Amino acid sequence: MQIIAHRGASAYAPENTFAAFEKARELSANFIELDVQMTQDNQLAVIHDDRVDRTTNGTGFVRHFTMHELEKLDAGSWFSPSFQGEKIPTLEAVLQKYHKKMGLLIEIKSSKTQPGIENSLGKLIDQFGFSLNIIVQSFDPEAIKTLHRLYPSLPTAVLIRPRLGLFSRHQLQYISSFAQYVNMKQTMLNPFLIKSVHRHGMKAFAWTVNGQKTGRRLQSWKIDGIITDYPDYF
Ligand code: G3P
Ligand code: CA
Repeated sequence: MQIIAHRGASAYAPENTFAAFEKARELSANFIELDVQMTQDNQLAVIHDDRVDRTTNGTGFVRHFTMHELEKLDAGSWFSPSFQGEKIPTLEAVLQKYHKKMGLLIEIKSSKTQPGIENSLGKLIDQFGFSLNIIVQSFDPEAIKTLHRLYPSLPTAVLIRPRLGLFSRHQLQYISSFAQYVNMKQTMLNPFLIKSVHRHGMKAFAWTVNGQKTGRRLQSWKIDGIITDYPDYF
């Protein structure tokens, strides 16, 4: 079972910063999960929200900042004064530091407001080389479908939120034509669903699992990985 540090080891350090990523490495996580947003000058910045307000000392939409302007913001103090001076990383810097050392699970947050993000992301990862340890995920299956069409050898995942009604076999079949992983909210999982994902030739990760009991139950159901804020719990 893979242990994936959600936004880095985000229980211990400010999410989506090198402090959180280094903590994840120290705690022996297999993968780092991180989120990307495109800047005004078409760089890929590692930040969860489409605005900088919650996790930095700035205000405004990420897409209205250049990468250089974003790098001047403090992305650590909101979490704790001891992280003052942490920066919003570029995805390129993260790839440089961790490719071939740790797995990276990279999430496209909003492809609709950032046209072309699939191509920019695929192109950047291609410079480092595709591998089983760099996976791109999104809640938007169409973004993943586009990415797969452009870069068929790049491993991909579709994120699923619980909805009313059942997650159908038809949907799994569709996803399996362009993704290798289905990453589901832990509350919607059961052993039959995980088995069904496997039967369709894919793997399943669960998010966001912060309880050891839940982790053990998911492991007994043969989940392939858990995405957690506390990589040291598992
Ligand atoms: O990897 C799953 C999880 O990251 C999706 O939710 O909002 O934390 O990006 P969110
Ligand atoms: Ca995410």
